[in-house]
Amino acid sequence: MRIAILTSGGDAPGMNAALRAAARVGGALGCEVIGIEEGYVGLLEGRARVLDVLQLDEASRRGGTVLGSARSKVFPTPDGQKRARESVAKLGIDALLVVGGNGSLTGARTLLQATTHSGAPLRVGGLPASIDNDLACTSMAIGVDTALNTIVEACDRICDTASAHKRTFIIEVMGRDSGYLAMTSAIAAGADAVLVREVGKTEDAIVEQVVTAMRRSYGREGGKRRVLVVKAEGVKVDSVRLKEAVDARIANELSDVDTRVTVLGHVVRGGSPSAFDRLLGARLANAAVRALADGQSDFMAGWYGPGIVRAACPWDPYVVLTPLTEVLDETAKLMAGDSPLARWRKQVFEEVEPILSR
Ligand code: F6P
Repeated sequence: MRIAILTSGGDAPGMNAALRAAARVGGALGCEVIGIEEGYVGLLEGRARVLDVLQLDEASRRGGTVLGSARSKVFPTPDGQKRARESVAKLGIDALLVVGGNGSLTGARTLLQATTHSGAPLRVGGLPASIDNDLACTSMAIGVDTALNTIVEACDRICDTASAHKRTFIIEVMGRDSGYLAMTSAIAAGADAVLVREVGKTEDAIVEQVVTAMRRSYGREGGKRRVLVVKAEGVKVDSVRLKEAVDARIANELSDVDTRVTVLGHVVRGGSPSAFDRLLGARLANAAVRALADGQSDFMAGWYGPGIVRAACPWDPYVVLTPLTEVLDETAKLMAGDSPLARWRKQVFEEVEPILSR
């Protein structure tokens, strides 16, 4: 049996650890495991190679992905789908494991549906990998823990210099439309305010929130010497514009305070994966490869957690296999604020915001 694996979309620390586990477990089960280069772009071009486990032993300690990743514009088109099916047949692929986020798993389902009616249907599985933690049916995606630790470390460093100069820092963090990284890092870093899209504040209300946090922090007895504001990328107010609006409001009352902006950007996505992400990648890949070898198809292997009602798979009591359509439907609801998890997150975000600024 030939299993192909590809990494797609934004890379996430822990992807290499997942590749290593897939190669080692697949090999132990008597399967041939090949890697497709650069996600769906490489699939369309038939670029594949046998995974080298020795190289992966080293790479699993590093961020990024040794296979390369890409976002293909051609793959979702009818021509792209036709070329992908041809490539799957030409490469003799029996099963495909897609490691990526929402867009990548949508692509996996499309390919699955397109090959379902053929003589020997392709088996398709997915692993959630995105620092944004915006996929449903898994409590954590590969890469989230490392990204969170990177942000917290950056905040700690910034707090040192901010306290030395009595400064306010607005730190913008990645996460696309999800405030998960911003909220969790703000709590872990001891931030004074957090700004997330989900709460749905107007620009004026956001400026007010930062000004209030500054007044409280600098004005309290003993006085704070820094204010840390973590802002999610999904908040559609430019960070520099926010700084200028805040400066205009506090110009007279806090004239000794300087405000700065740091956009962490892609720093958040790189770096050596945490032990948790290495294990998460390995355990999800282990279960997924065993499921594919067992003849299963149409699933994402997710990490068990609150709100996940499905029974665990037979290979790991923490891993749950959920049909791709259910994953994608639940993810759409999560991002639209229309699922129990989305409502819980919004409620917690609303509760935590004022507590941080007290
Ligand atoms: O989805 C992962 C992510 O890093 C988001 O947090 C971010 O919005 C986006 O990808 C950035 O993508 P790119 O690297 O293509 O600019």
